[in-house]
Amino acid sequence: MSNTEAFKSQLIEGQTYKKDFIIMGTGVLEGEPIQNAQIKVPLKTMNRHGLIAGATGTGKTKTLQVIAEQLSLKGVPSVLMDLKGDLSGLAQPGELNDFIQNRSDVIGVDYNPMGLPVELMSISDEKGVKLKATVSEFGPVLISQILDLNDTQQGIIALIFRYCDTKHLPLVDLKDLKRVLQFITNEGKELIKKEYGQVSSSSVNTIMRKIIELEQQGAERFFGERSFDVQDFVRQEDGKGVISVIRLTDIQSTPKLFSTFMLSLLSEIYETFPEQGDSDQPKLCLFIDEAHLVFSTASKDLLEKIEAIVKLIRSKGVGVYFCTQTPTDVPESILGQLGLKVQHALRAFTAKDRRAIKKTAENYPISDFYDTAEVLTQMGIGEALVTALNEKGIPTPLAHTLIRAPISRMDILSKSEIDALVNQSVLVPKYNEDIDKESAFEMLEQKLQEVEKAQEKSTLPKPNIPKPRTRVKEEASLFEELSKNTMVRQLGRTIFRELTRGILGSFTGRRR
Ligand SMILES: Nc1ncnc2c1ncn2[C@@H]1O[C@H](COP(=O)(O)OP(=O)(O)OP(=O)(O)O)[C@@H](O)[C@H]1O
Ligand SMILES: [Mg+2]
Repeated sequence: MSNTEAFKSQLIEGQTYKKDFIIMGTGVLEGEPIQNAQIKVPLKTMNRHGLIAGATGTGKTKTLQVIAEQLSLKGVPSVLMDLKGDLSGLAQPGELNDFIQNRSDVIGVDYNPMGLPVELMSISDEKGVKLKATVSEFGPVLISQILDLNDTQQGIIALIFRYCDTKHLPLVDLKDLKRVLQFITNEGKELIKKEYGQVSSSSVNTIMRKIIELEQQGAERFFGERSFDVQDFVRQEDGKGVISVIRLTDIQSTPKLFSTFMLSLLSEIYETFPEQGDSDQPKLCLFIDEAHLVFSTASKDLLEKIEAIVKLIRSKGVGVYFCTQTPTDVPESILGQLGLKVQHALRAFTAKDRRAIKKTAENYPISDFYDTAEVLTQMGIGEALVTALNEKGIPTPLAHTLIRAPISRMDILSKSEIDALVNQSVLVPKYNEDIDKESAFEMLEQKLQEVEKAQEKSTLPKPNIPKPRTRVKEEASLFEELSKNTMVRQLGRTIFRELTRGILGSFTGRRR
């Protein structure tokens, strides 16, 4: 049997699937693409996460685009963290040329240029659906992380959340958080001392200063109402999965906000999605381009949380894909969990590069057909070494793959195309409506005053008789109060989550 035949028979044997799959491209041997040697990834294992790595300009982002497109065509929605702003083109058809026609012919796929359903989103001033979260939803651990607090300061934040939880004080935005901080060192000082002990005012001042710094980085646009419901990521249009492109180009200078935001999204998805069990396709896939930005700024604590949630989230049918230059950008504990690996070329300029290449090669399954380290430096643009998990969950043999071309535009949208897309969005009216922050603040203010008055009145200590179902009653009356108007209903969601959330506590340190 010739080498080519042996290669093809290994592929066919390893990649004959009973259920649906996506086609990534075709196998390449000795530098030549092989006809009828398609490299496939079963949808069934696409909740098992993945990595897209390679030197700059080798085709990582286009690979991400191809995977998101193919998933969309199968009805699977995805979320793309677009840090360079080069993914909006997914909404418009690609352009056929000779290069792409030849590529498609040799891969054995039709090239049907097509724009996919895209929803543009942002956590800043970029156009699109404004993704927001309230401070209460964000939780004490993430707030501490984003503010870079030490243990003592974290303790104060934990105290504030506990206090606001028990008193049903809504923390909507950073202004609210500052107000409560002020309260615990001013008018509420004695009360807090009695319940929780002395709070250091110099620590409170430091926290205040850090909140102001965070506001100056633009974070106040992110904190507030209406908070995003992650179910809105899971949508179809004409049977195609909607691709939510989160535009994060203006956030590169504030990577901490980005990594914390990402963890908050993951925990929110984990919290709210039901267990999926054994399923033939993922419910949602999340792609993080330029993922090194997440990891390079994350503390050990945050990394552990990301690692834990990445492990757990796949049972909800959610696959997470990291796109970065070298696999070593991703912590080992996460690398070990990744099922699909798409490794584009690496460049060997220095001795350090060569060591990195050797190390990278060692991390891939041994191949009967390639010297992995050699192929790593020789692959062309839009080619990659691919290994996936087959339907049984076993890694497929490593295959040098000519990746198919995206069917959508390989360039960005124009300003007017972006405007048109945003104008036709059904989510923009839902989330970009201006909710009156003042009324939330007034509610907080009023509640703080009530707490203080109640404290003044209660001179005699009350006997401590346990009251069954109090919490339920409290919640019920709270909901009566909360259902009165939209603003308050929104707040209700914030508070309700505080009360009902269980497991999230283990991720964001929320207390019940
Ligand atoms: N699958 C593909 N089919 C056709 N052309 C491709 C493909 N992949 C990459 N290219 C070509 O290579 C160029 C660079 O690809 P891409 O932007 O994906 O690189 P990258 O690895 O993400 O780079 P960077 O590290 O700078 O973000 C594309 O603009 C495109 O012209
Ligand atoms: Mg890129």
